Amino acid sequence: MGEKKKKNKMKCMLMAIMVLQMLFSHVSSLHRTQFPSTFLFGAATSSYQIEGGYLEGNKSLSNWDVFTHMPGKILDGSNGDVADDHYHLYTEDVELLDYLGVNSYRFSISWARILPRGRFGEINLEGIAFYSNIIDALLLKGIQPFVTLNHFDFPYELEHRYGAWLSSEIQKDFAYFAEVCFNAFGDRVKFWTTFNEPNLLIKFSYMIGVFPPCRCSKPFGNCTSGDSAVEPYVVAHNVILSHATAVDVYRRKYQAKQGGSIGIVIATKWYEPLRNITEDYAAAQRALSFEAAWFLDPIINGDYPAEMRDIVGSNLPEFTPAEQRLLESKLDFIGINQYSSTYVRDCKYSSCQLDFYEGNALVFATDERDGVPIGKPTALSGIFVVPYGIEKVVMYMKQRYNNTPMYITENGYSQKGDSSTSMEEMVNDIERVEFIHDYLSYLSNAIRQGADVRGYFIWSLLDNFEWAFGYTIKFGLYYVDFDSQRRAPKLSAEWYKKFLNGSNLPKVKEDDAKLVCSSS
Ligand SMILES: *[C@@H]1O[C@H](CO)[C@@H](O)[C@H](O)[C@H]1NC(C)=O
Ligand SMILES: *[C@@H]1O[C@H](CO)[C@@H](O)[C@H](O)[C@H]1NC(C)=O
Ligand SMILES: *[C@@H]1O[C@H](CO)[C@@H](O)[C@H](O)[C@H]1NC(C)=O
Ligand SMILES: *[C@@H]1O[C@H](CO)[C@@H](O)[C@H](O)[C@H]1NC(C)=O
Repeated sequence: MGEKKKKNKMKCMLMAIMVLQMLFSHVSSLHRTQFPSTFLFGAATSSYQIEGGYLEGNKSLSNWDVFTHMPGKILDGSNGDVADDHYHLYTEDVELLDYLGVNSYRFSISWARILPRGRFGEINLEGIAFYSNIIDALLLKGIQPFVTLNHFDFPYELEHRYGAWLSSEIQKDFAYFAEVCFNAFGDRVKFWTTFNEPNLLIKFSYMIGVFPPCRCSKPFGNCTSGDSAVEPYVVAHNVILSHATAVDVYRRKYQAKQGGSIGIVIATKWYEPLRNITEDYAAAQRALSFEAAWFLDPIINGDYPAEMRDIVGSNLPEFTPAEQRLLESKLDFIGINQYSSTYVRDCKYSSCQLDFYEGNALVFATDERDGVPIGKPTALSGIFVVPYGIEKVVMYMKQRYNNTPMYITENGYSQKGDSSTSMEEMVNDIERVEFIHDYLSYLSNAIRQGADVRGYFIWSLLDNFEWAFGYTIKFGLYYVDFDSQRRAPKLSAEWYKKFLNGSNLPKVKEDDAKLVCSSS
């Protein structure tokens, strides 16, 4: 696109927003003041999905570097070797955040960049310097770093040496990594999370076996080894104890002098009962237990939910007295990744064909009720636009965990787009604007009802490497041309900027924006 055409496009987007503001200022509107003044508004990314530089700066290979280089694993045959080249372009990316006017940025640290050989080798000072520079650049702009210690990627050596998360050895490695990070960055980082959505990752990696290390058993998936009925619970146990060990280190040695807080991020769908019968209400509660309480109950209340013990039986590990003492370190806040909702039907008191992903909760998940989908579809199958779900999930957490502080650590909308999709099409992301507007409205309902929600991060700052979908699915507020590595704000970026700057923003309708843009 030429410079002039680009300017016109930008003018069109800004005009679209202005005209829509005038047209709809009388209908449901959203305003920054509906959220607490100290609220963190941000955007999120993760190391493997944006950094690239996979062989630079003395970084070692991560599990995802190894996995993406195996044939047939990623939909478009791509990998994160370069991704958004954030490794070289981070200063520009901090400018993008500053342009949006966010006051926080959620990103993750590549473990293999900091400790190429885990606890079996040296600390890589080049890796420390890279994140230190990012943190300093953010703080110069008044943007709070909100740091994830582990977002799926870790040094491959740990997988090779002892089977990574399947072994309790990993607890020592994770605690060491966490401490290296607290020590190097904790003077400036006030928000830490240990893990990003381990509940979802574990099912992909050890139940259906489509993420590394690709372990599962039949009929759950097609893997060369694994045990889908056992390993997910063993791995979760090690993740929970790794979290607890890291929090314990933070509490004992760093928190008092550094003054930060630490939590964990769990991905949570909302489960809506399919039928208005007690069995389906119980099924929805059970599904939530197997999704979120699986991790949060042990961390906050000291043990797995009773209904998990009831169904999983002896395959669910027990916490020893020493482990229970460790769990007393708990957390300071819950991070919630919320995108979608699904209907569930009971399979405990009536028989169903159990789904391999949700079936362990003895529920049948379905996207439709009487032939009507639960929400508008998105580019990701199984992910629907259901704005009320975010309010329901937050109210569930508020009630179950005694209003522990919460951050929405991810929420966002995906577009389908590969190299054949035009930039024009991608930047005119009116559906994303509508999505963010509506989810924020329902989130503000929860806050009005007393939910202690303290922040909201859009996934994602940039179009990036979307795991098994490669570059075919786009979540960015910024469009990225992966050949030139140029970034361009989408309509949603301009909208978010206006919202953060205090504009009263109406609900946007697709046709209205088209009208404005085609006439300019
Ligand atoms: C990488 O690490 C090795 C030691 O493991 C060191 O000798 C070398 O100087 C490092 N390279 C760079 C570019 O820092
Ligand atoms: C399972 O995986 C093997 C080896 O990768 C492959 O040959 C076979 O076709 C797969 N089976 C199914 C049902 O996908
Ligand atoms: C559910 O059923 C009860 C009676 O069993 C009824 O009072 C209630 O209105 C129903 N709710 C919905 C949403 O249909
Ligand atoms: C919005 O942006 C303008 C221009 O940068 C600035 O002067 C104003 O203070 C901002 N308003 C709010 C509420 O942030």
